Amino acid sequence: MGTPARVGAPVTLTIDGFSVTVPEGTSVMRASAELGIDVPKLCASDNMEAFGSCRLCVVEIEGRRGTPASCTTPVTEGMVVHTQSSKIRKIRKGVMELYISDHPLDCLTCSANGDCELQDQAGAVGLREVRYTSGENHYDPANNGTLAQGDARARGTRGADAADLGNPLFIPKDNSNPYFTYDPSKCIVCSRCVRACEEVQGTFALTIEGRGFDSRVSAGAADDNFLTSDCVSCGACVQACPTATLQEKSVAAMGTPERSVITTCAYCGVGCSFKAEM
Ligand code: FES
Repeated sequence: MGTPARVGAPVTLTIDGFSVTVPEGTSVMRASAELGIDVPKLCASDNMEAFGSCRLCVVEIEGRRGTPASCTTPVTEGMVVHTQSSKIRKIRKGVMELYISDHPLDCLTCSANGDCELQDQAGAVGLREVRYTSGENHYDPANNGTLAQGDARARGTRGADAADLGNPLFIPKDNSNPYFTYDPSKCIVCSRCVRACEEVQGTFALTIEGRGFDSRVSAGAADDNFLTSDCVSCGACVQACPTATLQEKSVAAMGTPERSVITTCAYCGVGCSFKAEM
């Protein structure tokens, strides 16, 4: 969750009217968590360096211009932070609205329904409707058969048709890996998978290509699929994904498990953990 705390001089600040003392170098997001204040987030996770890309975790800091990301902002002595002002709520809702406007609205039939951070965070920021029509709804068959960018992304979920295949922006679903699927239509480009591949696994198999609507996760292989890339199928990217973009094939086939049990193998001294899902 944000910048990891490191041992340093104690710093006292105020967040939403509550005083908290944390070590120097702690992020505002982590300091908030110390107080039990959950700041909405999408690109931050507990086991990776803060990245500051999703902008959902913005806060107001008295005496400071703008609305900085709490995950990448270190605390300072005497800092006064507001995580729930009306201005901040409005910004977060607007950011989430943009994410959802470029995302398939198939939650009820999505295999990640009930286990999706995007879904959770949309609820947390109070998003109830999206003013911007998605590319899917903007699809105009009279437009020379050319799909808007949003259409191309959304169509990855339900398979290609003739128009998709002729569209350079269309990215088909990648089923090449035996253990997981990659559905670019559900990607919010938070880069958690890319960072997990680098920081957790040290493999550097994934990267982000393109900009804006064109940006996407790429396995970087010549034929651009996971199986022929440098991916070692460790699953770190799947664990890190906040949506159903990267998903275990067993989950996609059987749905989200109702419960899971983590056991530690006692065979040797390494202490490998296994998760059994039921
Ligand atoms: Fe801070 Fe994404 S969680 S910018």
